[in-house]
Amino acid sequence: MISDILQLEKSALGELAEAKTQESILAVRTKYLGRKGLLTGLLRNIAQVPADEKPLFGKRCNEVKELLEEKIEEALKLQAQGKKEAILAKEKIDVTLPGRSIPPGRVHPVIQIRREICEIFATFGFSVVEGPEVELDYYNFEALNIPKDHPARDMQDTFYIEDNMVLRTHTSPVQVRIMEKVRPPVRILSPGRVYRPDSDVSHTPMFHQIEGLLVDRGISFADLKGILTAFLKKVFGSDTILRFRPSFFPFTEPSAEVDIRCVMCRGKGCRVCGQSGWLEILGSGMVDPAVFKNVGYDAEIYSGFAFGLGLERIAMLKYGISDIRLLFENDIRFLKQF
Ligand code: PHE
Repeated sequence: MISDILQLEKSALGELAEAKTQESILAVRTKYLGRKGLLTGLLRNIAQVPADEKPLFGKRCNEVKELLEEKIEEALKLQAQGKKEAILAKEKIDVTLPGRSIPPGRVHPVIQIRREICEIFATFGFSVVEGPEVELDYYNFEALNIPKDHPARDMQDTFYIEDNMVLRTHTSPVQVRIMEKVRPPVRILSPGRVYRPDSDVSHTPMFHQIEGLLVDRGISFADLKGILTAFLKKVFGSDTILRFRPSFFPFTEPSAEVDIRCVMCRGKGCRVCGQSGWLEILGSGMVDPAVFKNVGYDAEIYSGFAFGLGLERIAMLKYGISDIRLLFENDIRFLKQF
């Protein structure tokens, strides 16, 4: 009977030495010391042990039980510690490695142009205002003297949100919103996104415009010419040659488009200027009295001029970009250059 205890102690210690995980150590404990465990079973059978062996048998059983409990506790501790060390080893940080640098971003070329233009006009006393991109038909068209079913609507293909709501096709509606709110003198610049269902090398469905508006007493076409000339010479260089070409916009009368001598071929004619030697830069004109009437300005007292230009076009000419879509593909190798 005593030999049973020795046998049991040997096998329990052997199994414990093999147990490497927490589960397997706990399994050894259950197997030997659990309620239905082997050692527990031996103790329970003490009645069958001859009387003279009983005290020794009991003593040996208890000794083995204590020993096993101690060894199991120890094994569990070692196992947990090993796990912790393994985790620490895995998560070790080499503080001597060089840090990972986060490359600084840069300003998108279109936004660079926007800032540049706003700064130039700030020196002429213009302040920047913004308007909504989802716009009422009234502000985008009607108040600008473009009635429903008027052929002038064909000039600008339009994304409709609802019957009387559009994605603005130009920044001109901001003119109306501002004039409804303030009395002259008005000198504002309004940059922002505009939308037209168009897509090719020189058109994207979303692009940027800047609108300018100046209204006061005694403003004439000479003021329009003077300010736009000074502006374009600042953007494209003081030797830039300009041309004011008669045009039509429903909200200006008279209207003019402003061209500059082609920056690529200097007027000889090339692919960029379509062999004409000129590049169309902006639309402009004296505010039509019909627009003044819609905002409650007295056209007998006030006059003014407005202009609108596309920022992508200016960025493309300034940086020699041949496909407008490159500006919106977000290829960092391309954008890094500006
Ligand atoms: N809104 C016009 C366009 O998008 C440009 C323009 C603005 C023309 C102001 C005249 C005056 O084509």
